[in-house]
Amino acid sequence: MSPTHPLRVVVLISGSGSNLQALIDGQKRGELPIEIVAVISNRAAVRGLLRAEHAGIPALVLDHTRYESREDFDKALQAQIDEFRPELVVLAGFMRILTSDFASHYEGRMLNIHPSLLPKYQGLHTHQRALEAGETEHGVTVHFVTPELDGGPPVIQARVPVLENDDAETLAARVQQQEHVIYPLAVEWFARGRLRMKSGKALLDNEPLGPQGYLTGTAQP
Ligand code: GRF
Repeated sequence: MSPTHPLRVVVLISGSGSNLQALIDGQKRGELPIEIVAVISNRAAVRGLLRAEHAGIPALVLDHTRYESREDFDKALQAQIDEFRPELVVLAGFMRILTSDFASHYEGRMLNIHPSLLPKYQGLHTHQRALEAGETEHGVTVHFVTPELDGGPPVIQARVPVLENDDAETLAARVQQQEHVIYPLAVEWFARGRLRMKSGKALLDNEPLGPQGYLTGTAQP
């Protein structure tokens, strides 16, 4: 199925926005049939906002510290997102735990990228934890978002080797290279109507993906 119009995408960020940049670059190269209609950050003055501005994308800040509760913030965020009528919401380094209502509202049309081979290492400090556990491979997962933190059905996973002299920084850099490959690919699949979520499973070309999603990358140094 090929889309008749570019898919309307809202990207949520909290920081550097290198995954956002990968999507902008893919769109510019004509590989991604998407239009990023807004970038929203919960933190002011982050590099990702500048990346959006440079690309001519509306960039907004919704500061979570100005809201009394997580519920209040998520309601305001949902209202803000929905003004842009997105068909897909992309969490790209958006460092917030989501309320169930928010996650449910976008179920089947919200993706996240998590820097581990889920279901391993949900939550924070994934690279350090993988090193401390003596893993020989590590990686990154793109998944549909459900109310369970880092628990929605995986779409695609990329593996990288853990090298002997790695620290959290070198390992994160190797993982990020893969992030910038698999996130645009997952978004492209969704935009072309190849990827969807049904009954709690991710389907690619109508076939259910495995428990770790589509597998790519290599654990060989
Ligand atoms: C990435 O490592 C992503 O996996 C994690 O947050 C980081 C965001 O990086 N969820 P960036 O803001 O896209 O550069």
